[in-house]
Amino acid sequence: MKFFIDSADLNEIKEAEAMGVLDGVTTNPSLCMKVGVTDFDKHIKEICSIVDGDVSAEVVSTKYEEILEEGRRIAALADNVVVKVPLIKDGIKAIKTFTEEGIRTNCTLCFSPTQALIAAKAGATYISPFLGRLDDVSHDGMQLIEDIVTIYTNYGLQTEVLAASIRHPMHVVEAARIGADVCTMPLSVMEGLLKHPLTDNGLKRFLEDWDKLQRSLK
Ligand code: E4P
Repeated sequence: MKFFIDSADLNEIKEAEAMGVLDGVTTNPSLCMKVGVTDFDKHIKEICSIVDGDVSAEVVSTKYEEILEEGRRIAALADNVVVKVPLIKDGIKAIKTFTEEGIRTNCTLCFSPTQALIAAKAGATYISPFLGRLDDVSHDGMQLIEDIVTIYTNYGLQTEVLAASIRHPMHVVEAARIGADVCTMPLSVMEGLLKHPLTDNGLKRFLEDWDKLQRSLK
């Protein structure tokens, strides 16, 4: 499973990259707003230079021709950029055209298996089902991931399932069990994946005992 960080914060991205297990980045307009991005193209270029992996940068246009224009500009920013396109009719049309042009895409705001099937037929590189936002409205977000993985497997569809809107480590565990290709998560969740109180307590005891042994040898 690939790990992406869901952030536009350069410090967080650098910290995740330094862990050595980062495979990519996803951004969106809200994440850019959170860190006060002023020059979008420059910011995305900088993220692309930090990370050796795919960086999703989202269009804010909603009309076919405008999505194409904006997406082509984003695609030209770096070799590892992926154009993020919303799952609307004009977005699907644009994904089909981008696919023909060799531009890689991440189809975002997916909330149903039928949406995911259409995105794959248009040739999306990634599909982003939003787990946490479905859970928020009492729908089973994980069931959506399972349905998409089953459908894509049934037909040999190449679109990668990118579990998004991840809120806690158990989302990552469940998505991995089901076979999602990628999980994108905040830095706090990524760090949470490696934490266990028994590890911390065990390490503390080992170090204390080692210290006792050294003192007994003096
Ligand atoms: C990533 O591609 C999505 O935009 C992001 O995971 C959405 O997460 P949220 O529901 O926490 O805003």
